[in-house]
Amino acid sequence: MSADSQAERTLVLIKPDGVQRGLVGEILRRIERKGLRLARLELRTVDDATARAHYAEHEGKGFFPSLLEFITSGPLVAAVVEGDRAIPAFRQLAGGTDPVDKATPGSIRGDFGLITQFNLVHGSDSPESAAREIALWFPES
Ligand code: PPS
Repeated sequence: MSADSQAERTLVLIKPDGVQRGLVGEILRRIERKGLRLARLELRTVDDATARAHYAEHEGKGFFPSLLEFITSGPLVAAVVEGDRAIPAFRQLAGGTDPVDKATPGSIRGDFGLITQFNLVHGSDSPESAAREIALWFPES
């Protein structure tokens, strides 16, 4: 790595729609091809309390109940992804929240998504969020 590298960690979720659609391998492949590394990786079904804590900043928004129901609906993949500028690098791979209006072709959401709720992946949006989310999902790390 270069002397000015900014190695960091981000929390990535492959949401239940990505698991159900068999896109886990495709998404992990894109993460690895970008040059990012998998530091932790686990298939799990998240409980309501963890989901609420993860999305706490969105409590009160119209989509919150539906988002909670969706994210707890089945197995998802939780991962800690690390590398140079891992937080913006993964968000670039993911594409914008709305898979049609915001995500561009070539991104995960732009290539595989159609409906905002079912946008396949989550990635931390800042170093503060990443620290909070990694501590929530992988408290032992
Ligand atoms: S906001 O309102 O701008 O803060 O929303 P945003 O940051 O784009 O999205 C926050 C998370 O909520 C999900 N989301 C939705 N889920 C279901 N239905 C609708 N309409 C909806 N809009 C946003 C969005 O995917 C974000 O989840 P993560 O897991 O972070 O991608």
